Amino acid sequence: RQHSCILAIETSCDETSVAVVKDGCEVLSSVIASQIETHKAFGGVVPEVASRKHVESITNIIEEAIREAGIGKNDLSAIAVTQGPGLVGALLVGMMAAKSLAFALNKPLIGTHHIAGHIYANRFVGEIEYPTMALVVSGGHTELVYMKEEGSFELIGRTRDDAVGEAYDKVARALGFPYPGGPHVDRLALEAEAAADLPRVWLEADSYDFSFSGLKSAVLNAVNQSKMRGEDVPAGAIARGFQESVVEVLVEKAVRAVKQFGAKQLLLCGGVAANKGLRTALTDRCEAEGIQLTIPPFKYCTDNGAMIAAAAHLKWKRERQDPLDLKADPQLSL
Ligand code: KG4
Ligand code: ZN
Repeated sequence: RQHSCILAIETSCDETSVAVVKDGCEVLSSVIASQIETHKAFGGVVPEVASRKHVESITNIIEEAIREAGIGKNDLSAIAVTQGPGLVGALLVGMMAAKSLAFALNKPLIGTHHIAGHIYANRFVGEIEYPTMALVVSGGHTELVYMKEEGSFELIGRTRDDAVGEAYDKVARALGFPYPGGPHVDRLALEAEAAADLPRVWLEADSYDFSFSGLKSAVLNAVNQSKMRGEDVPAGAIARGFQESVVEVLVEKAVRAVKQFGAKQLLLCGGVAANKGLRTALTDRCEAEGIQLTIPPFKYCTDNGAMIAAAAHLKWKRERQDPLDLKADPQLSL
């Protein structure tokens, strides 16, 4: 199987996103309707509100993605969709839309794992060489995934508490920034002249797991102490100290994993891959160690349909498809 044009739908959290991708790597259109403004008022994503918003916009976004791609509906090779993990009500909206479209157009339906999508967003940079190691950092996940070959995912480490993006969002909130706070903390950290002294959490010497809740609590304590003393909260120093701690641990563990598993590449992905501090530190370290690092373009780091198409294309190439009674699975494992 050679040429394909896959339409992919991603609605696992708070972005309604549809993309049309040619041959797994050429993005013809990528439409993303963010619900951030709606959820801001609540300080985080409200699942029921997310589902309703997806319902309101999904049909228009599909039409827009097809129009922007400049193709006819019948030129599509398959309809891909995020099967999980994610918010169940949100996933269901994308799943129903994908099934309806696949049925109406008589095209194969391909279910995709959300994290496989984040990982395969690296295909927009170049074809992946195996064995490879992926560092997945998002609002819901912090994982080191070893891939011996295409389609094989071995979870060698994960967070034992907060996901790194979740920790960023909580720290941002404590410093007075709106959801999602990651980009604010990132900017503040890079502008700050000094760094607050905050702990690094390494866990057991040989572990690839992570833990960020202790660090997050240390930040919250520092903020509260300043407030109690009636002083200004040193937001810049706290943001920088927090980011340095997170980045140091992520970089160290990822590099150690690449070496131990003899991976040919390190793939960074997930929403927190947009973090400038992390991108710079990881780039420098990999250069020094002679490790080939790939990071998706900014816009394909956070949730998007194009990454789901990139992952689905690999299943399509192997002539795999899913039945029309495919179930959305909020806990789907890799
Ligand atoms: O992958 P994603 O869009 O959604 C999930 O699947 O979770 O990731 C969203 C997360 C949020 O927690 C957001 O604060 C974080 O990615 N994020 C960042 C940055 N940009 C987005 N965190 C740190 N620095 C950034 N520049
Ligand atoms: Zn995601």
